[in-house]
Amino acid sequence: MNRNLRKTVIAGNWKMNLAPSGAKTLIEELKPLIAGKDKCEIVVCVPFIDVPSVAEKVKGSDIKVGAQNVHFMKSGAYTGEISAEMLVEAGAEYVIVGHSERRQYFGETDETVNLRLTAALDAGLKPILCVGELLEQRDRGITAEVVSMQTKIALQGIDAERLKRVIIAYEPVWAIGTGRTATSEQADEVCGIIRGVIAGKYGSDTAEAVTIQYGGSMKPGNAAELLAKYNVDGGLIGGASLKAADFAAIIDAAQN
Ligand code: PGA
Repeated sequence: MNRNLRKTVIAGNWKMNLAPSGAKTLIEELKPLIAGKDKCEIVVCVPFIDVPSVAEKVKGSDIKVGAQNVHFMKSGAYTGEISAEMLVEAGAEYVIVGHSERRQYFGETDETVNLRLTAALDAGLKPILCVGELLEQRDRGITAEVVSMQTKIALQGIDAERLKRVIIAYEPVWAIGTGRTATSEQADEVCGIIRGVIAGKYGSDTAEAVTIQYGGSMKPGNAAELLAKYNVDGGLIGGASLKAADFAAIIDAAQN
């Protein structure tokens, strides 16, 4: 087992925050703070409207740009949706797929997550696939089953070659935006369960190489402990990614 086989990825999820003017300010603040921090990949997943201007603004820096969702059809009568090709042309390299807020508030299912993931890969994007259990599911002791099932369905039809472009984010729903972080042991355990699912489907070499992030109230004060765990290869960060100093401090924690 060799952890060096995989990339650490620190990704910000801005959610529905920051119009282009605010996005510009945050990127300007962030750039000097992260210069030379090359031990991890740095991504900001921004509102659709910010993708072109942020893509322009990060040129020459190590910051990569992602979107927060993608539709699975290439084009057509899907009012309000955005296709993977559109995101690529706008300058996105990454895209979050299956975030729990999409599942919870917008009727996203494991099946549509699979379609979106496939469409993102077809267009050359790097999807960040989110999985995670609800509090009731953790309390009932079915976290492993829930997360394994979400992972398996999302990856249906994806071969090992394409999996290399997929990042998985374990985000326990009860930890998102609540200030209640999973313990580093809980994060490590479930990221390990997900790695086991990947090993079962693709073999252990592929599983050892896949980046699995933790997300849910990650902040400067807990990032180092979470990121030190064997199975935790980065973070998907909501609230703390909106403050340049906090996001940069998490990136610092990923330099070891
Ligand atoms: P949070 O959000 O860091 O604000 O808990 C994480 C996420 O939803 O990706």
